[in-house]
Amino acid sequence: MKYLMAGLGMAGLAGIVACATVDMPEPVEGQIVFDQNCALCHGDGGRGDGPLAAKLSPAPPDLTRITARAEDVFPRTRVLSVIDGYTRQAPDEAMPEFGLLLQGETVPVVLEDGTLSPVPRPLAALLVYLESIQR
Ligand code: HEC
Repeated sequence: MKYLMAGLGMAGLAGIVACATVDMPEPVEGQIVFDQNCALCHGDGGRGDGPLAAKLSPAPPDLTRITARAEDVFPRTRVLSVIDGYTRQAPDEAMPEFGLLLQGETVPVVLEDGTLSPVPRPLAALLVYLESIQR
């Protein structure tokens, strides 16, 4: 019994250690979130050609050209804000907000200015995915 308890204790500790070292998600994790929540408007590859795109005004932008439009630095802070609905104002309702969907465990994300910001994991995953599809 004592050994069993000790074993469980170790497993518990390993669990805590694993949680403490959270890494940025891989793009594929964000792609799943994207396919479920964003592709309807932005299209499967994020090129602004989803099934709803033609009906929207303004049209959903091509998300593979964010870096190109931003003069070659992927604007992590702005993209996070757009997705999370932090900075958008009332008249700009063409894109729904996903703040509620994106709650939960946070991972530290490095912003353009080098600061670290705790970001909900699904949002960080979306960010990494969007960065991965820039061309
Ligand atoms: C109902 C259609 C719709 C859905 C669903 C949608 N978007 Fe959008 N999105 C838009 C439209 C329209 C715009 C441009 C106008 C605006 O900013 O509101 C936009 C703008 C953006 C921008 C800003 C791009 C730039 O260059 O400034 C990003 C980033 C973005 N969307 C990401 C996402 C992500 C990630 C999701 C899924 C979580 C998502 N969108 C879901 C319609 C949509």
